[in-house]
Amino acid sequence: MRYGYFDDEHREYVITRPDTPLPWLNYLGTDAYVGIISNTAGGYSCYRDARLRRLTRYRYNGVPTDSGGRYLYLRDNRSGEYWSPSWQPTRCDLDSYECRHGLSYTRISSARLGVRAETLYFVPPGETLEVWRLRVRNERGGPADLSVFSSVEFCLWDAQDDATNFQRNYSTGEVEVDGGVIYHKTEYRERRDHFAYFACSEPLAGFDTQREEFLGAYRGWDRPLAVERGESANSVAHGWAPHGSHHVRFLLAPGETKEVIFLLGYWENPREAKFDPPGSQILNKALVRPVIDRWLRPETVAEGFRQLRESWSSRLSVLQVGTPDQDTNRMVNIWNPYQCMVTFAMSRSVSLFESGISRGIGFRDSCQDLLGFVQLAPGRARARILDLAATQLASGGAYHQYQPLTKTGNDAIGSGFNDDPLWLVLGVAAYLKETGDEAILDEPVPYADAADVRPPLQEHLERSLRYTLDRLGPHQLPLIGRADWNDCLNLNCFSAEPGQSFQTTENVAGDTAESVFIGGLFVLAAREYAPIAERRGQAAEAGYYRAEAEKMAGVIAEHGWDGAWFRRAYDHSGRPVGSAADDEGQIFIEPQGICVMSGVGIDDGMAVRALDSVRERLATGHGIVLLQPAYTRYHLELGEISSYPPGYKENGSVFCHTNPWVMIAEAMAGRGDAAFGYYQRINPSAREEISDVHRCEPYVYAQMIAGRDAPAQGEAKNSWLTGTAAWNLVAITQWILGIRAELDGLRVDPVLPAAWPGFTATRRFRGATYQISVRNPGTRITHLEVDGRRIEGTLVPLAPPGATVHVTAGGQGQG
Ligand code: BGC
Ligand code: NOJ
Repeated sequence: MRYGYFDDEHREYVITRPDTPLPWLNYLGTDAYVGIISNTAGGYSCYRDARLRRLTRYRYNGVPTDSGGRYLYLRDNRSGEYWSPSWQPTRCDLDSYECRHGLSYTRISSARLGVRAETLYFVPPGETLEVWRLRVRNERGGPADLSVFSSVEFCLWDAQDDATNFQRNYSTGEVEVDGGVIYHKTEYRERRDHFAYFACSEPLAGFDTQREEFLGAYRGWDRPLAVERGESANSVAHGWAPHGSHHVRFLLAPGETKEVIFLLGYWENPREAKFDPPGSQILNKALVRPVIDRWLRPETVAEGFRQLRESWSSRLSVLQVGTPDQDTNRMVNIWNPYQCMVTFAMSRSVSLFESGISRGIGFRDSCQDLLGFVQLAPGRARARILDLAATQLASGGAYHQYQPLTKTGNDAIGSGFNDDPLWLVLGVAAYLKETGDEAILDEPVPYADAADVRPPLQEHLERSLRYTLDRLGPHQLPLIGRADWNDCLNLNCFSAEPGQSFQTTENVAGDTAESVFIGGLFVLAAREYAPIAERRGQAAEAGYYRAEAEKMAGVIAEHGWDGAWFRRAYDHSGRPVGSAADDEGQIFIEPQGICVMSGVGIDDGMAVRALDSVRERLATGHGIVLLQPAYTRYHLELGEISSYPPGYKENGSVFCHTNPWVMIAEAMAGRGDAAFGYYQRINPSAREEISDVHRCEPYVYAQMIAGRDAPAQGEAKNSWLTGTAAWNLVAITQWILGIRAELDGLRVDPVLPAAWPGFTATRRFRGATYQISVRNPGTRITHLEVDGRRIEGTLVPLAPPGATVHVTAGGQGQG
């Protein structure tokens, strides 16, 4: 069953009924000002940091679900009837309803009682505000006397404090209303230089800024008193809950349309010019007012929206493909890069499943996000790399998370996740391959615990690798620390107390538990690093890391191989985890993927054997589950992983992030049908048909799909912010379609499903455009035709900027 359809031409998903299984989200803004918006206008906005600079309130876990948003009410002033054109919050029946989620904008349209309404929500590029453009059309035979009420509830900036510190917060709220604009200025009197504003393009019939005056006592957003009676209270908030509502009234002749623009924005004043007149407590509006006036003009809004669409067209033109599979095309050409950009921008902070409070920017998360994002905005990738590296410690370890506003490491979680630093090497390697910008390696970057030392970025990479080598366990495999990629495999935490953090509680010495996964990741990272060092004339260094990679591969073959698959780890007491000798958790997906990707076992049959074991034991119709058999009881020595009921999260769900590792491994093994088969199983567009089972949005990946051991097998959770986005884009475009940026050129080395005749692609790379046409030879490609000339192998040499290069592969004589 579906709840809408893809409109590929407009790059939109069109939701055709408001009561989707869960709120289906979109994101407004991908830079400083961002927000989430659901298909019924729920959601909230923030500036740079979802915890520390939240503009509006949202009630996670509230009922009815998805409460708090960018709400409008329409009211027929003759009959007194009122409704929400976005269905929520009044949930009155609508005669028609449509929500179009596009790239960084959402448009919700509906009709009721002969009144059609369409609201476009977006954040103009480069601005710190969001536009709501409402168009109301009278489709009745006679005139319509209408009111529009707007509504947002302000958050008192720090979302954590806002949700807990009521004894203070009920007394701090302050607003000003001036020239039709509502200014939210809580704490501006003392240490804040910023405020929010909510403006309207029309003369106001009234306004409200005190929530309870607008709603009425004991009422909710479904029947606000002001809307019911058709009149605002003109309330000015002092304390309690500052709120923003405008009331606009107009008469529409039959067929007439009225456009009303609302702006919700964030503004910072220079500290020395906070007040006007100076010495007063009145907000200085001189700097923000011109911005407001400009964006209240329809022409500015139309132009801003045009620029937004244009910026996405240009970003997506980096890679466009034409394959025989529609689900592949729309994910690769539209939705997957879009999700990568959103995930990169938000890390794991704001979604329906992430409250914006608990986690800032994750170190390993962002490094992996870079892999799918770097081609979309290399400049932002560069800045993020330098920020991440600056949260690294002199030991080579890294803060696990940092706060985006302050860019300082999060002490509550600290470091000690021993995989973290290795991902930096992969992220930087991806950046170098895409851009060729080797100068980044010379950028001085401090360590978080030694700010006065500013070694070049390259040294950070080296320390990342050394960090692993400095921490080897009894089998010479890397020590796991608090956890590796699998945050829930906590081998040094023996927690028997409810509420203890599995990640930060370490109650045994961490000098025995080892991770095969980190071993594989080290091999991969060292093999990425060696050619980088070589290009910089550091042959000895390159040789050293090649040798260490070789050595680690040997250790994995000796101690990490279980007979038919790679083991996962060794626990604190030296017992293997992920071994046939156990009755639960015999095989894990992560080491099969990462070890094969790093090249371990490719030459001696272990790789193929491991992949066959994945197919036999882990693959399901809904994707590849993380482990089998799932843990049925709590294992003190394993940690959070066994705290989940079987089939959920790390305990045997289809943890989608890991599936592309197997796709890549299958492609490396030359098995295109297997690689693509796995790709299709979790491709959200290919699952659209079963939206009633999948339940999350069909246009983006979710972190997990309930596994075969769960009662709700096939049900997705944690959509949007997941490393799944980056890795799937990498798997399909770089390994199945085989188009990969490399240091010296563009690789075209597809491994396709047998049934495909071929595909075409356009890739912009280092300023040149590559027109690629592949005919499926049924085997690996051995040579290419580049501008009519035969080239042995699969690497297209770099072309000068501005050039258009024609590449054909798989023609006559292949194989
Ligand atoms: C989740 C993991 C996540 C971790 C972050 C755990 O509860 O299961 O997926 O990585 O929290 O702290
Ligand atoms: C989600 C976390 O954000 C990520 O860092 C981790 O690797 C996975 N969960 C697996 O535990």
